[in-house]
Amino acid sequence: MKRKIEVWDEAGHILAHVGKGVLITVAAEGQVNPMTIGWGTLGIQWGKPIFIAFVRESRYTKELLDKNPEFTVNVPYGEYDKSILSICGTRSGRDIDKVKELGLTLEEPETISVPGIRQLPLTLECKVIYRQDQDPNAINEENTRRYYPIPEGWDHGDYHTAYYGQIMAAYVIE
Ligand SMILES: Cc1cc2nc3c(=O)[nH]c(=O)nc-3n(C[C@H](O)[C@H](O)[C@H](O)COP(=O)(O)O)c2cc1C
Repeated sequence: MKRKIEVWDEAGHILAHVGKGVLITVAAEGQVNPMTIGWGTLGIQWGKPIFIAFVRESRYTKELLDKNPEFTVNVPYGEYDKSILSICGTRSGRDIDKVKELGLTLEEPETISVPGIRQLPLTLECKVIYRQDQDPNAINEENTRRYYPIPEGWDHGDYHTAYYGQIMAAYVIE
């Protein structure tokens, strides 16, 4: 069962967890792929409720998100298995099927094609309505140095793209 929530009533809970790690889940080409994120923004633009996720160029999640621009945000609500966030934050969907490996239970979505995850039950269903590659020239020196060293074999830093997901549905899986 899905218990509907008013997203602003849970904004504090959601953002407190983003700081510690939540999942975004994407799906394309028959694969569902959850990834841990520690950065995210909740707010309003164009009069719509929006969750913004920041995804680096190197992530498999980015590859899938560019093919199917929809995602769910999966937030702990009560007790949860911490290994979910550590595995989804260190292993790539290019190498393993994280859903299978962790025994995650997928929940049929209401408005998009990407499922929620029962183990992290507070769910935001999001449709990407805007995306923006972050401009390296607009990032200050301190953050460039700290977050964007040039990976071996690359000629530029592993920059983030901001994906603005309009929140189409919000609920807790019970
Ligand atoms: C606590 C934590 C927070 C993270 N936050 C982000 C993030 O906001 N954006 C991002 O691109 N990667 C982030 N990562 C790294 C990805 O989760 C990690 O590289 C993952 O293995 C990528 O999976 P994928 O290749 O299947 O997309 C985070 C990792 C951890 C452990």
